[in-house]
Amino acid sequence: MMEERIQELLSEVKGYLARDKKELEAFRLKYISKKGEISELFEQLRKVSSEQKKNVGKVLNQLKQTAESKLVELTEKLDAVPVESAEIDLTLPPVPNEIGNLHPLTLTRYRIIEIFERLGFNVADGPEIEDDWHNFSALNFPENHPAREMQDTFFIEKKAGEKGHQDVLLRTHTSNVQIRLMEKQKPPIRAIMPGRVYRNEAISARAHCFFHQVEALYIDKNVGFADLKQTIYHFAKEMYGNDIKIRFRPSFFPFTEPSAEIDVSCLICKGSGCNVCKHSGWVEIAGSGMVHPNVLKSCNIDPEEYTGFAFGMGIERVTMLRYQINDLRLFSENDIRFLRQFQPVI
Ligand code: DAH
Repeated sequence: MMEERIQELLSEVKGYLARDKKELEAFRLKYISKKGEISELFEQLRKVSSEQKKNVGKVLNQLKQTAESKLVELTEKLDAVPVESAEIDLTLPPVPNEIGNLHPLTLTRYRIIEIFERLGFNVADGPEIEDDWHNFSALNFPENHPAREMQDTFFIEKKAGEKGHQDVLLRTHTSNVQIRLMEKQKPPIRAIMPGRVYRNEAISARAHCFFHQVEALYIDKNVGFADLKQTIYHFAKEMYGNDIKIRFRPSFFPFTEPSAEIDVSCLICKGSGCNVCKHSGWVEIAGSGMVHPNVLKSCNIDPEEYTGFAFGMGIERVTMLRYQINDLRLFSENDIRFLRQFQPVI
């Protein structure tokens, strides 16, 4: 009797199929648990006569081992299948695609372009790999003049002994595009030139070896410093609102005379002092000035007939003030938690 029952259970156990965790648990309860069939048979084994005990015990042990290894086998099989087909819920809505957003520097660049386009400025572009002529010489940087050291240059090919303007380098500013533009276009010229620039500088919260500028050039008859001031004033109000304060500080650039640096009131600390404004309450956003006659001459434009203003603005700086960002490095680290905060304005 008992042996028959054992054989029955043995074939049941061997053929058992578990399609999901529930059926697996049912198997365990039925055969292996303390109250399961096999434990019960062990109970009954006590009552079996001693001659039979040895044989029955042997098959019963076999059944127990078979059931135990079956449990392991069934568990492994279920774990290997990642999603049970029966568990797929076809009524669930699809997982939404994550939509990216524009980089804050791009958003600011677009905004700058928008503001100047409405003032009649075109957008122009120039190369990042540049020759000495367009980056320095044509911009009135004299050969071997210390002014060249204002900007730590990455040279690609330095042709010592030959004429300086044959050197190939990564442009240190977007002012090179001024020259490229004036070489092929005659005044009136009214253009802005956004782009990436490179300098051999140690990376910190305030400096990087690459960053972005937007250059502006306005050449026509009778362009004066007042036009520069008014243009910048308009820009600052459009970008930051009517409460923004600006100031012009006298400065020096070889390609402008007179020259000025442009500061805006610090929107990060509102004047109370922070690392971005170096506790001064003012942040420099651009260099500017009246285009030097020598620069016009380099491009065959008569400085007696035409005058103009130019400026070069740091897009990072403008963006830091716009979004209250206090570390330049965030722009190039590609930390998704940072980038996600700049959702597109629809
Ligand atoms: N190129 C200068 C720089 O990167 C900035 C600059 C100053 C640009 C005066 C100009 C300018 O166009 O007129 O430091």
